[in-house]
Amino acid sequence: MLYAFLLSGEYPELAKAEVEYLLSLSNPTHFGRVLVYTADFGDLINRFISRLALTKEVVKVYSICSFEELKDVIENLAEYVLLLNKKCCVRVKYFTPGSMVLGNAKKVKDVEVTLKDVQVQELEKRLGAILWRKGVNISVSNPDIIIRIYIFPDSKVIVGILVFKLNAKEYSRRHPEKRPYFRPGVMLPKLCRALVNIALKEGKLLDPMCGTGGIVIEAYFSKLNAYGVELYPEIVRGCRTNLKALGVKADVVCGNALKMPFRDEAFDSIVTDFPYFQSSKSIFDKETIYSKAPEEFYRVLKPGKRAVVVTNTEIDFSPFKILDVYRIRVHGNLVRKIYVIQKSS
Ligand SMILES: C[S@@+](CC[C@H](N)C(=O)[O-])C[C@H]1O[C@@H](n2cnc3c(N)ncnc32)[C@H](O)[C@@H]1O
Repeated sequence: MLYAFLLSGEYPELAKAEVEYLLSLSNPTHFGRVLVYTADFGDLINRFISRLALTKEVVKVYSICSFEELKDVIENLAEYVLLLNKKCCVRVKYFTPGSMVLGNAKKVKDVEVTLKDVQVQELEKRLGAILWRKGVNISVSNPDIIIRIYIFPDSKVIVGILVFKLNAKEYSRRHPEKRPYFRPGVMLPKLCRALVNIALKEGKLLDPMCGTGGIVIEAYFSKLNAYGVELYPEIVRGCRTNLKALGVKADVVCGNALKMPFRDEAFDSIVTDFPYFQSSKSIFDKETIYSKAPEEFYRVLKPGKRAVVVTNTEIDFSPFKILDVYRIRVHGNLVRKIYVIQKSS
């Protein structure tokens, strides 16, 4: 079975990593920001797809064809949709040549100009009419299933059933500035969620420097058992206030990430955002934190498991193995480096 993932333009490399780590997929065919994967285990996709944060949509692919073949493909698709006995509608998205370029958000937004709505609507109407003539129940306002069609500049077309659409409102509801306790410089929920997804599918996740709770919150909403450690009592109190406001159940304790009150190999994963020594503070100096924390993370992590650590500097994570490093520009000269590291089995 083929699945097409329309990645968010914000952090395309990280978006790809999120899909591949969470859903155990690899070697996609690229159609710009749409990546098509062969998934042998549809179950894995069904179980975890709703956790994706940096993918806008996922389409279960029915056909990859040329624009000229589209009419015939839709006629054949009608037979399949009839079997499902559901109300459906057709939604088309055009990609301009510019929008095919993987790049940062600004660039993608600048060049992504879809054809005029009216042309899109006309095509949707005509394709919908083909289905309707074949007896398919069409509902534009309240469909059970959406037939999603991506049209690329080289006239290649992907036709399929929409199986996931990002719920941007959910993330905006958890925006750091909307939580009762706020500190500047924290990562946005979608980014926290993507890091959680890269780190772990199921089990116990720890943020050893949890601050206001951004990562803990996303871990909880990913159905993981979430734990946090924070050095400063007032920040721990603030974090707990945030968790309570969002209905998050997680254990957050006041403690030192360099010597945590947990037994060896207690966690399936660690995700954390190191202090940058710009806005966030620590009684320990930068060198102590950066050199000692990896040892302690290694101790509390189970063998073979991953940690995802965000920092603004280069860190020697030995004895961890570094699997990947992603760089994302935040503002000015602040570049976040995201290390995906693994403990030996
Ligand atoms: C970049 S902030 C983390 C922000 C967090 N992701 C959030 O959502 O608010 C780093 C946090 O590490 C905490 N911290 C610094 N040194 C620490 C230590 N030795 N042990 C535990 N936490 C520490 C800081 O107080 C700060 O809240």
